[in-house]
Amino acid sequence: MDHLPVWLALTGRSVLIVGGRSAATAKLRLAHDAGATVTVVAPTLSDEGTRLAGVTHMAREFAAGDVAGRLLVFGATGIDAVDRAVSAAARAAGVPVNIVDRPELSDFLMPAIVDRGPVVVGIATGGTVPALAAHVRGLIEAALPQGLDRLASFAASFRSAVKATVAAGPVRLRFWNRVLNGPVAEAALAGNDVRARELMLQALNRAEGGREGEGSVTLVGAGPGNADLLTLRAVRAIRAADVLVYDRLIGPEVLDYARRDAERVFVGKQTARHALPQEEINALLAARARAGQRVVRLKGGDPFVFGRGGEEVEYLQRAGVAVEVVPGVTAALGCAAAAGIPLTHREVAMSVTFVTGHASEGAVEPDWADLARANHTLVVYMGVANAGRIAAELIRHGLAATTPVAVIENGTLPGQRVVGGTLVGLEELVERHQIASPALLVIGEVARGAAVAAADVRQAAAG
Ligand SMILES: C[S@@+](CC[C@H](N)C(=O)[O-])C[C@H]1O[C@@H](n2cnc3c(N)ncnc32)[C@H](O)[C@@H]1O
Repeated sequence: MDHLPVWLALTGRSVLIVGGRSAATAKLRLAHDAGATVTVVAPTLSDEGTRLAGVTHMAREFAAGDVAGRLLVFGATGIDAVDRAVSAAARAAGVPVNIVDRPELSDFLMPAIVDRGPVVVGIATGGTVPALAAHVRGLIEAALPQGLDRLASFAASFRSAVKATVAAGPVRLRFWNRVLNGPVAEAALAGNDVRARELMLQALNRAEGGREGEGSVTLVGAGPGNADLLTLRAVRAIRAADVLVYDRLIGPEVLDYARRDAERVFVGKQTARHALPQEEINALLAARARAGQRVVRLKGGDPFVFGRGGEEVEYLQRAGVAVEVVPGVTAALGCAAAAGIPLTHREVAMSVTFVTGHASEGAVEPDWADLARANHTLVVYMGVANAGRIAAELIRHGLAATTPVAVIENGTLPGQRVVGGTLVGLEELVERHQIASPALLVIGEVARGAAVAAADVRQAAAG
């Protein structure tokens, strides 16, 4: 590190800017927003500069005496002789100076800034490549949640209450860590102040009663497999987890977001071993939370779409364990986008239904007549094993045998396959291509593109 990052209090302090071009206006805007009393020395001032309240414009060339009494001086004329003169005058007067794009004439560098209200991140790259700072800023912008300013003011409003309730030192640090990485922070970030306050008061009450170590469970939708489809909120929850409970559809790249010390518990099917029964998963989640851990239950797609998330939430609520849900991109949406199949489309598909093709024992039979509608898209989850029966029922209830179908296997993942055909040939299509789970069936006019592409491939192969 060859520069010291400091955050200067500028309110009411005098800052001089020499120059009127766009680089000078950028510095003028920053100094003005930070509360400085700004003087600009330049023959002309930009329109933006003239609109800013409290800016003094001296419409003339720079004179060495202009630097007297300033807290900071910026030079941004782009004229070598003038910039050098500004630098020399400021240095002679002992006033820190920054000359835009001239590190050798500057005492301090201006960082790229990410501004989220009271939270400000400055990025310096030692004056190397300015584009690098902008690139890093983009990465940080994406990682920092929107609404961080709300979270900061929320936390500030509880600062004294926490001080009065939670013992100083590591206990208080742990308390804030939990607050900032859990449901309280999520509510505050989302602007749900009432809920955030309610949860914060509960956390304070627990701390007062010596029960601050209670954990929580977050059901996180991990999307259809490709880690790029995780939401920012999902990534935050995964990073904060002490333990991750996951099954087969969760890829290693998703788990890579977890802390190194986070425990990973696999509860899916392995060749030699069946998946853990749902009741045991429920009990495991509750036990870990009661032991004080922040548990993340990772679910493929969205937890509330064919994910048994509802059962887990009900169980945990009955058990008195704090639980929240982070939605995910459900397989239908992720796979359709990856396969280029719009689920609704002007004139050919006015509605879409997600249905499970896996008939569990004693389950109610789907309303085939309702599903066999024209101008409709049907997305069948877990339908590969029953593809023949599903097609037969839809045809029996009036859907044209020639209706296009697409089968998407491993959607969004590197091994994705999309095959197309018609409803009457669905079973044969699945068998011929040896489609394996996970796969989705898309039935309806919108799948015509996939069907045509498949026919073209067959023709090319035959020819
Ligand atoms: C138990 S359901 C879970 C659905 C999940 N909760 C969701 O919202 O996507 C599992 C089924 O989702 C579908 N599925 C999930 N990921 C998929 C993928 N990457 N490609 C194709 N189908 C997928 C398959 O039909 C699979 O059998």
